[in-house]
Amino acid sequence: MAYKIAVLPGDGIGPEIVAQAKKVCDAITKKFGHEFEYTEALVGATAIDQVGDPYPADTHELCMNSDAVLFGAIGHPKFDNDPSAKVRPEQGLLRMRKTLGLYANLRPVNTFKSLIHKSPLKTELVDGADFMCIRELTGGIYFGRPQGRSEDGQTAYDSCVYTAEEIERIIRLGFEYAGKRRKKLTIVDKANVLATSRLWREIGQKVAPDYPDIEVEYMFVDNAAMQIITWPKRFDVMVTENMFGDILTDEASVISGSMGMLPSASIGVHTSVFEPIHGSYPQAAGKNIANPCATVLSAAMMFEYAFGMMKEGALIREAVDQSLEAGVVTEDIADGKKAYSTSEVGDWLAEYIEKA
Ligand SMILES: NC(=O)c1ccc[n+]([C@@H]2O[C@H](COP(=O)([O-])OP(=O)(O)OC[C@H]3O[C@@H](n4cnc5c(N)ncnc54)[C@H](O)[C@@H]3O)[C@@H](O)[C@H]2O)c1
Repeated sequence: MAYKIAVLPGDGIGPEIVAQAKKVCDAITKKFGHEFEYTEALVGATAIDQVGDPYPADTHELCMNSDAVLFGAIGHPKFDNDPSAKVRPEQGLLRMRKTLGLYANLRPVNTFKSLIHKSPLKTELVDGADFMCIRELTGGIYFGRPQGRSEDGQTAYDSCVYTAEEIERIIRLGFEYAGKRRKKLTIVDKANVLATSRLWREIGQKVAPDYPDIEVEYMFVDNAAMQIITWPKRFDVMVTENMFGDILTDEASVISGSMGMLPSASIGVHTSVFEPIHGSYPQAAGKNIANPCATVLSAAMMFEYAFGMMKEGALIREAVDQSLEAGVVTEDIADGKKAYSTSEVGDWLAEYIEKA
C-alpha cells in the first residue's frame, strides 16, 4: 500500500527546498522498496494569488486524507509590507495548524560537528548540545480572542488564552519525550507575571507524580532565553507555550549554525506536518541558493514519526552529516569555500542514499 504524502511547497524558497526533500524521499523509495504517492496543493501567498484563500478547502481535504504533510514555507514581502492586508499567508498556516489539530511542534536542536565553528557561541558551549523543544502550537496569544484595535485605532490588544486541557496534553507529551531521552523536562513559563503561565505550572505540578522517573524543573522564559545560549547542554526536553516556543526555538537555531539546518514536526489530532523552522526567505527565492537540509531533515522526521521507519530516517541524517563533512553545502554554511546550489546538494544527498 502506498503512503500518501501531501506536498505543500508554499512561497519563496518553498518549492526549491521541497523539491530536494522529494528527491531524497524518492531515493529512500528506491533503496527500501517503499511506495509513496505525492499530491501537491496550494498554500500561502501563492494560494491567495491563485484562489484568494491561503489555506483552500481542497488543500485541507488533501491533508486530512494523507498519511503525512511535507510543507515548505509561506510568506511574501508584499504581505509583510502591507499590514492592512485582510487576507494574509500566515492565516493559512495558523488555520492549517488549528484545523489539523496540530497542538505540538517538535523541534530538535543539536549540533553538526563540521558546523560547530559557524555558531556565534563558543565551541565548548555548543559541542554536544542536544535537546528537544516542544512548542504548543494551537493556543496562546496567536489564537486568543479578543484581538484587535479600539475604535479610534490608538489602542491594540491580544489575548493569551489556555485551557487546562490544552496545557495538560502538551505537558504530558513533554514528559513522554523526556522518558525516551535523558529523562529531564524543563517547563518554561512566566508564572511570576502571567495567569496562563500559573495554570501551566499548576498542571505541571499535578501531572509530574505520574512520571516519577523524570526530573522536572520550572523555568521563567527570560531565564530560559539566557540559559539556551549560556548553557544549552543543560536541557534535554523543553516544553513551552506558543509564543515563548516561537521565540526560543529561533534563538536556539544559532546552536546549530544556520536556520537552514533545523527541521520540525507538528503533531496532534489529524495528519502530522513536517516542515523546516525557517520561513520563505524571499531574498533567495528562485536563485537555487537556499539550504535544503532543514526540509530534508524534516522528511527524515516524517519517516520516523509518521511511518515508524527509523532506518530510513537515520540514513537521511547520515547523508546530511556526510554532505557537511564533504563540504557539499549551500552558501549560508560554505564559509567562503565553494558553495553548491540547492539542487546540487539535493542530488548529492539522493545519490548518497541510493549508494549506501
Ligand atoms: N513556517 C513558515 O512558513 C514561516 C516561518 C517564519 C517566517 N515566515 C515568513 O517568511 C517570510 C520571511 O521571513 P523572515 O525573513 O523573518 O524569516 P526566514 O526564515 O525566511 O529568513 C530569515 C533568514 O534566515 C536565513 N535562512 C532562512 N532559511 C534559509 C535557508 N533555507 N537557507 C539559508 N538561509 C536561510 C536567511 O539568512 C534569511 O535571511 C515572511 O513572510 C514570514 O512571515 C514563514
